[in-house]
Amino acid sequence: MSSSLLLQDKVAIVTGAARGLGEAVARAYAAEGAKVVVSDIDLAGAQAVAASVPGVIAVACDVRVPAQVEALVKAAVDRHGRLDIMVPNAGVARVAPLVATSYEEWREVTSVNLDGVFLCIRYAAPAIIAAGGGHIIPMASVTAKAACALIGSYAAAKAGVVSLAQTAAIELRAHNVQVNAILPAFIETDLVKAHRAEFEEQLGIPDFNAVIAQRQGRYGTPDEVAQLAVFLASGRASFSNGSGYVLDGGVSSSLL
Ligand SMILES: NC(=O)c1ccc[n+]([C@@H]2O[C@H](COP(=O)([O-])OP(=O)(O)OC[C@H]3O[C@@H](n4cnc5c(N)ncnc54)[C@H](O)[C@@H]3O)[C@@H](O)[C@H]2O)c1
Repeated sequence: MSSSLLLQDKVAIVTGAARGLGEAVARAYAAEGAKVVVSDIDLAGAQAVAASVPGVIAVACDVRVPAQVEALVKAAVDRHGRLDIMVPNAGVARVAPLVATSYEEWREVTSVNLDGVFLCIRYAAPAIIAAGGGHIIPMASVTAKAACALIGSYAAAKAGVVSLAQTAAIELRAHNVQVNAILPAFIETDLVKAHRAEFEEQLGIPDFNAVIAQRQGRYGTPDEVAQLAVFLASGRASFSNGSGYVLDGGVSSSLL
């Protein structure tokens, strides 16, 4: 009897998956039958996720370090014999105007959010090609398309991610590898909770959540992002390549 699961026996790596959107993607992929490698700089967090989902393993990886990303891909292939899907999701943010951002802070944000995605594509693509094709689904952000004061380094890195996805899509198309980025607006994860007070203070607004409610309608949920990541990794998105899927409640297409 054939399975109706969308990702049955596909092997997937998700970076930055100890919590937040990466954890949600890992759980959704596992629920659709994938063999998931949960990876994070926070190994204990990744292990906690792996322990709660059957068939999921945890591998430590700092996506800024080429040798660690290479080793992550090797660990997935050694364990499962192939790699079908890579989700470069790890990300960090700093909240400050550009003129108050040090070079070290700029590099901290761009090294994780942009260099890390490059390294994931660089090392995962050959393994996915060897498996006969598959998917790379970088987690960008709607800030790649619409400016948001105080997170200029983050937005620039995310715009770079969208560009990387476009180039990779064209370069890898002949190898049956599809590359599509996801561009969420604010989703209520630890990343957002950690920086809410800084936005309120530096923008002079009393209640960040009220601004979100007015502009986005509400926060998106991690599972809403994860369901798009499932769709993009499944055969149902077979003609999509080099695209950036905005998931933002309409905020980036409205003036008020
Ligand atoms: N939450 C949002 O509103 C939102 C919106 C758009 C895009 N995103 C993007 O989604 C992704 C996940 O965000 P989130 O909200 O779940 O954040 P989060 O802070 O909850 O989780 C991020 C994870 O990345 C890990 N990480 C950080 N640096 C790392 C590194 N160098 N190597 C490996 N792992 C590392 C962290 O340990 C953490 O587990 C990020 O790329 C983020 O930019 C988030």
